[in-house]
Amino acid sequence: MDNKNLLNAFVDKFGEGGDIRGYFAPGRVNLIGEYTDFNGGYVFPCGLTMGTYMVARKRADRKINMYSLNFEKDGVIQSSLDEFVKGLVKNWTMYPKGVMWAFEEKGYQLDCGYDILVYGNIPNGSGLSSSASLEVLTGIMLKDMNSKKDIKGMGSRNHIDGENGIEEMSLADIALIGQYAENKYVGVNCGIMDQFAVAMAKKDYAIFLDTNNLSYKYVPLNLGNYKIVIASSNKKRSLADSKYNERRSECEKALALLQTRKSIGCLCELTVADFNEIKDVIEDDVLLRRAKHVIYENERTKNAVTALKNNDIEEFGKLMNESHRSLRDDFEVTGIELDTLAEEAGKCEGVAGSRMTGAGFGGCTVSIVKDDCIDSFINQVGSVYQEKIGYCADFYVAGVGDGAHKIDLDAEVHYDK
Ligand code: GLA
Repeated sequence: MDNKNLLNAFVDKFGEGGDIRGYFAPGRVNLIGEYTDFNGGYVFPCGLTMGTYMVARKRADRKINMYSLNFEKDGVIQSSLDEFVKGLVKNWTMYPKGVMWAFEEKGYQLDCGYDILVYGNIPNGSGLSSSASLEVLTGIMLKDMNSKKDIKGMGSRNHIDGENGIEEMSLADIALIGQYAENKYVGVNCGIMDQFAVAMAKKDYAIFLDTNNLSYKYVPLNLGNYKIVIASSNKKRSLADSKYNERRSECEKALALLQTRKSIGCLCELTVADFNEIKDVIEDDVLLRRAKHVIYENERTKNAVTALKNNDIEEFGKLMNESHRSLRDDFEVTGIELDTLAEEAGKCEGVAGSRMTGAGFGGCTVSIVKDDCIDSFINQVGSVYQEKIGYCADFYVAGVGDGAHKIDLDAEVHYDK
């Protein structure tokens, strides 16, 4: 697949002519800092070279025609800007539609419909943010193509501090609109990590993001002779969304209890020491373990970034292993598939650390593996996984890439199928 193939596929489906433009948004892998983002904590994701591509052209009417090369059987899915009813759509188009809906909700009135072709090479439902990728992708397309450049919206944040023109919308604003779409249109109460990482990623860097105020630093991924290896469990993430929302509300309950002892706005305002001083206010063991995970994970994330800056890959990996154990035992979002991948990784030579990444309940692990041990790692983990789980895992050596951007549809840029 390359950019020209995409353009040809678009023309095949929707015909020639007009101003046809192309866009890309990556997937992301989170290195550490899991379930901290809706608790005002730190996360440390990076963008991938795998991602989602969009080719789009304006229409003269308000129709939206969407076609995905990944779901060819679905054909062209037709709708209109006037019929974005929440909760009705349950296929891939709910992500772009959700973002269009969110633009209008925020006051950025869309002036026309679009013909849209999409292609992605992020394995679906793998926890590498294929949905956030599609949301941010739609956001950058709308910002770029909407001709009513002077329209004013209320900005992407919920606290409204004056109106902003669509021109002034930053990538971070687009990430926030994507999150708003996911929360209010799709119905998953996710934090900001995925959309932010997808929008703001930088080649060969990870983003150390403080989700409390969205301040961030790019940290070079100097891994020496190590690489990031992603293992996809290929487990279907059924019920993941409802369990995700359940974890979020458990954290809110724990916070409410802790707030009776200390004036805090979110769980991650507590240090580990603060937490241990007042944790007896949480009598329920489940809520206690949820809060413990979040607060210790936040501390681990800060320490992991320091370790990486000091080129201490061993320490970084140790913190990843601790993160996995905490997600397994205290936050309970792993499952036998992810545990098998992470535990077997721990037995392999040349592995600094391994953990589940993203929301869990299936999806992927991320491991830091020495270059010359990658083949044996894949063989060993892959065969134990197949034997124990009954189907195979897929492995990817991660390329760390840039955030969402426009692409030149005439360029011969090749990417994986
Ligand atoms: C999903 C969500 C993120 C974050 C992670 C867990 O990827 O979309 O906001 O909460 O799970 O860290």
